[in-house]
This record gives sequence, C-alpha cells and structure tokens, in this order.
Amino acid sequence: MKGLQGKITIVTGGTRGIGKGIAKRFLEEGSTVIIIGGKNKDDANQAVAELSPIGPVEAMMVDLSNAEAIEKMVDDVAAKYGRIDILVNNAGIQIRQWATEFQVEDFDKVINVNMRAYYLASRCAARYMQKQGGGSIVCISSGNSQCFTSQRSAYNISKAAVNGLVATLGVEWARFHIRINAVAPGYIMTDMIQKGIDEGIIDIENIMKVIPMKRLLLPEEIASSVAFLASDEASGITGQTLFTDGGWSKAGLPENKDL
Ligand SMILES: NC(=O)c1ccc[n+]([C@@H]2O[C@H](COP(=O)([O-])OP(=O)(O)OC[C@H]3O[C@@H](n4cnc5c(N)ncnc54)[C@H](O)[C@@H]3O)[C@@H](O)[C@H]2O)c1
Repeated sequence: MKGLQGKITIVTGGTRGIGKGIAKRFLEEGSTVIIIGGKNKDDANQAVAELSPIGPVEAMMVDLSNAEAIEKMVDDVAAKYGRIDILVNNAGIQIRQWATEFQVEDFDKVINVNMRAYYLASRCAARYMQKQGGGSIVCISSGNSQCFTSQRSAYNISKAAVNGLVATLGVEWARFHIRINAVAPGYIMTDMIQKGIDEGIIDIENIMKVIPMKRLLLPEEIASSVAFLASDEASGITGQTLFTDGGWSKAGLPENKDL
C-alpha cells in the first residue's frame, strides 16, 4: 500500500490479538514497528519472536492508563528512531457488568485505557508529526460504538467517544497534514471475546443472527482497513470511522442462519 514503506509505526496492544495482526501487516508493508504491551511480557516476547522474521520490530512495555508513561513512550520512540510517522491506538480492555453494579474504579480503568490513552498518545505523537510536516493516526473503535449491547456500558461509551475523538482531532489537525481516523471492528475471536464466552455473556450463535456475513472476522481483515486508512491511499480521508464488521452496524433485525 502506498506510503507505508520505511515508516516508523507504533501499534499499542500489538503484542496479541488484533494489534498483532496490525503489526504484522505494517511489517509486510515495509514499516518499522514498535509494539506496545501492557503487563504480559510473555505475549510481547512471543510476538517479537513471531514477527521479527518479517521486518524490524521491537516491543515496549507501557501502562497506557498512566499519562506520564504515555508521554515517555512517544518521546522514547522519537528519540530512538528520529520520527513518528504512524500511530495505531489499538490497546483496549473490556469489563462486563450491569451499569447499576459497575464499580467506579472499573469505569475509570476502561475509559482511561480505551479513550483517554488514545487522546494522550495521539496528541503526544501529533507534536512530532506537526514538526515533521505530517503523519497518520488510526484508532481502534468497535461495532459497540454504534450497536449498544448490555453489560458493557463503560466500553460502549469509551468506543463511541473514540469516534468523536477522531472526528474532533481530524478537524483540528488537518491543517498540520495529520490525518486521524478510526476502524470499528465487529467480532474477532481474540482473548477479549474468549473471556466473554467463558463468562457466559457472549453467545456466538446468537451474535451470528445480527451479522449479515454470518462469520467472525479475522485480525487480518481489521489490519487491511487500518493499513488503508494509515496509507497515502487514504490521503483525502480524515475524522472518519470505518466499520469493518461484516455488516453488523447496518443490520436491522436478527436473522436465522439460513436467511
Ligand atoms: N476482539 C473483538 O472482537 C473486538 C471487537 C471490536 C473492537 N475490538 C477492539 O480491538 C482492540 C484490540 O482488541 P483484542 O480483541 O485484540 O484484545 P486483546 O485483549 O486480545 O488485546 C489487548 C491488547 O491491549 C493491551 N493492553 C491492555 N491494557 C493495557 C494497558 N493498560 N497498557 C498497555 N497495553 C494494554 C494488551 O497487552 C494486549 O496487547 C481493542 O481496542 C478492542 O476494544 C475488539
């Protein structure tokens, strides 16, 4: 894809799941990729071992709920590589609970990782991008930013805010040649979804009734949308959210498998 070759790309949450798929795609496109992991060093080591045959990749462990740590992360990457061309805000967490029972600490945790970190990392990166003459940012939203399911209030709110975040900053930063967009995935089988199945909250068979494509998507399919929006192929696009969800966000009523 045009404009990804030789670029310095940060992918938060790139140590597993969708983020690892995104990191892989950017490496295949010729970018240098810095993957950011949270606490799990084994995931980070495994991802680097898996991805390094494709291209230059390193992992950094950063707690994205910590504002100073986010600033340091961006400064460290810029100091080491001399620039930041692309930022993919992908790290996210889910806590499922009825809104009436949701602990305030848990609400803050979800909002901080899923939304505040996206804002802080974006503006730190944008300071460098502005001096460089431009850059591109892609944030991972969710189908839940538009299709609101129960027991996910903090998550749904955080993801709806991500769509607002890219629209707001897209308008503000277009003058600096910084584009910022979002990709809203549907259901992809990762640890996050597996946890929901294990907790008895996610029922895949039921979900398929509202997914017109009637299948889970693959991390590679999300990575394609992210690579497109980050690349020069999307040079005229900013502030948008691209739903990559098998049609979920356009579905009306649930349908049976054979309809
Ligand atoms: N899996 C899906 O079906 C689905 C659907 C829609 C949106 N999403 C979104 O896609 C993104 C990736 O989800 P996934 O399914 O791959 O999740 P995952 O749980 O498999 O991976 C999450 C990643 O985020 C990192 N992370 C979590 N908290 C962190 C913190 N405090 N500091 C630093 N890193 C932290 C983890 O280390 C991990 O690399 C998330 O934003 C999620 O909301 C996922």
